[in-house]
Amino acid sequence: MSRVAYVNGTYQPHSHAVIHVEDRGFQFADGVYEVWSVFDGKLADFDGHMTRLVRSLTELRIDVPMTKAALTRVLKETVRRNRVVNGIVYLQVTRGTARRDHPFPAPGTPPSVIVTSKSVSFAKAQAQAAKGVAVITQPDIRWGRCDIKTVGLLPNVLAKQAARDRGAYEAWMVDEMGLVTEGSSTNAWIVDKNGKLRTRDTQANILKGITRTALMALIKDQGIELDERPFSVDEAKEAREAFFTAAGAFVMPAISIDGVKIGDGKPGPIATGLRASYLDLARRDAI
Ligand code: PDD
Repeated sequence: MSRVAYVNGTYQPHSHAVIHVEDRGFQFADGVYEVWSVFDGKLADFDGHMTRLVRSLTELRIDVPMTKAALTRVLKETVRRNRVVNGIVYLQVTRGTARRDHPFPAPGTPPSVIVTSKSVSFAKAQAQAAKGVAVITQPDIRWGRCDIKTVGLLPNVLAKQAARDRGAYEAWMVDEMGLVTEGSSTNAWIVDKNGKLRTRDTQANILKGITRTALMALIKDQGIELDERPFSVDEAKEAREAFFTAAGAFVMPAISIDGVKIGDGKPGPIATGLRASYLDLARRDAI
């Protein structure tokens, strides 16, 4: 079955789905995006991602392209037309199309909106999580506003490819102090050698992950103590457990960092338990 994309008001087969050569997203990475997990055709953590989208747009002074209700309809319709049961839906909004010039285009230039959706094998993801995955570290070379979910992802792309080149799933990025900021497309967590669950605070230059926020509520409910405090690469390598969170990855256990085995080299009980609880919650609340 051919895939369908929403592009500026119409649904088109992927083979015809194009944006303008002078779209500012294409020329300047002048745009933002969101990714929702899809369970049984429904969108998980719906409001969290929608709220962050509006925040990203507002921070960059890009007009919110349509009402929340209209955007919701487009997201759901794209999932439906692609017959996605389990997978993701991707939304991108750019500052629109205008003759190439760095300053913002004339007020009233409509933002561009595209939505795509794809199936992802849930069984394969579960098998991967049961085994655990490898992580490498890379210097964090990104700009200073990683709290905004922009499509300017080149450092993330290079870090992820470095991971792939070394047979790893994810790259954890490291700041000048030797502290882990986050993954190339995920938030990073450890259960340190003293048994304390830790993830970096969002005062740092990282994305405030929606999965991270959802997990925090679960952690609180389960009476697990959380320390929102940076950890070094050395602390991560000595940790009992390591894992990372994102839409699509959910809670993914890491079993090695730069080839150093974490704990006993198997997914740990906290990561495994939190993955199961997160999946239950996300499925239950998906709309
Ligand atoms: N990435 N940190 C970065 C740099 C990310 O790109 C992402 C998400 C996250 C986790 O955020 P959330 O839990 O809201 O998905 C953290 C998406 C999935 C992507 O780029 O495809």
